Amino acid sequence: MTRYIMAFESSADETSVAIVEDGVKIVSLQTATQIKSHQRFGGIVPEVASRHHIEQVTILADAALQEAGLTYEDLTAIGVTQGPGLVGALLIGVTAAKTIAWAHQLPLVPVIHLAGHISAANFVAPITYPALALMVSGGHTELVLMREEYDYLVIGDTRDDAAGESYDKVGRTMGLSYPSGKLIDEMAHEGEDTYDLPRALLNDDQYDFSFSGLKSAVINLMHNAEQRGEKIDYTNLATSFQAAVIDVLVTKTKRALTHYPVKTFIVAGGVAANRGLRDGLTTMMADFPDTQFTPVPIKLAGDNAAMIGAAADIAYRHGKRGDWTLNANPALEFDYLED
Ligand code: KG4
Ligand code: ZN
Repeated sequence: MTRYIMAFESSADETSVAIVEDGVKIVSLQTATQIKSHQRFGGIVPEVASRHHIEQVTILADAALQEAGLTYEDLTAIGVTQGPGLVGALLIGVTAAKTIAWAHQLPLVPVIHLAGHISAANFVAPITYPALALMVSGGHTELVLMREEYDYLVIGDTRDDAAGESYDKVGRTMGLSYPSGKLIDEMAHEGEDTYDLPRALLNDDQYDFSFSGLKSAVINLMHNAEQRGEKIDYTNLATSFQAAVIDVLVTKTKRALTHYPVKTFIVAGGVAANRGLRDGLTTMMADFPDTQFTPVPIKLAGDNAAMIGAAADIAYRHGKRGDWTLNANPALEFDYLED
C-alpha cells in the first residue's frame, strides 16, 4: 500500500509542510520563508521566528493536503523535525504534528533535522548503502557514515563554526544581506583567488573541520585594510574565501571516502547549493568510480519539509515512533563513531 507521510519542518526560519509518497516522491510542498523579517537584524531572531511559524503552520498543512488532493484519512503517518534548531521554533512544528497525529489517530515519527537534509537524496535516486554524506548547512558541517539504512554515525564534525555560518559572518562584514552564502558564491565566480587564506586541519589525519580561523582571517583582513585606508577587492576576497572552504571540504571528504569505501556519496544541507563545492566534489569523484555521487537538488538543499518526509519514511519503516510526550530537542544529534 502506498505510504503518504505529512511532514513538518520549523527548526529555523522556514515553516514548511510536505506530503511525501513512499519516501521518494514529493506529492506536495508548501513553504513560507521568513527571511525578509530577519534580514534587517543580520540573523534569525528566535522570538520573531516562532511567531511566524505559529501564523503559518496550519495554513500550510491545509495547503499541502489541497495541493496533494488528499485528506487526513489518506495519510500513513505524521513526521516532524524534533531538533536540532531553535527551541521555540521547533516547538511549533512538534505541537502541530502531535495535535494532527492525535486528532486523526496517526503514528507520530520524530526526525533529526540533519537526517532530513541527507534523505533528500532519495528524491534523486534511492540511496544504496553503505553511504557517506557531507552535511553542510548554517548550523552543521559533518561527515556522516551510514553503514546501512537508518544508521547515522558522525565521523567528522566542525570544532567551531559551521561552513554556512562562516559564509554568513564574512558576508555580514562585507555588508551583504543575510544569509550571504549564495551571494558570496556568485561573487566567487566573478573574481580571482588573490588572497592567501588559512586552511585549518587540512593535513590532519582525521575528519574534523574548523572554519573560525578562516572567518577571522577574512574579517581581520578587511578591518586592517580599512584602518590603513587601503581598498580590498571584495570579489577577489570572496573567491579566495570560497576556494579555502571548498579546499577543506573536498580534501576531508576525499580522505573519508578513501578510508570508508561506500556505494553512495551525498552532499546535503544549505551549503550543498554552492556551485563551487558541487564542481569541486564532482571533479574529486572521478577518483571514486565505484561510488555514486548524489548531490541533493539545489532547490531541496535548504530547509524544507519534503526532506523531513523522506527521513520520516525511513524512520517509520524502522519502527521509530513518538508518543504524546514528544518534546522539541534543540540539541538533538547523531551518534559519534567510536574509534
Ligand atoms: O540547511 P540550511 O537551509 O539551514 C540550516 O539548517 O542551517 O542552510 C542555510 C545555510 C546558510 O548559512 C546559507 O548562507 C548557506 O546555507 N547557503 C550557501 C549557499 N546557499 C545557502 N552557502 C554557500 N553557497 C551557497 N550557494
Ligand atoms: Zn537545515
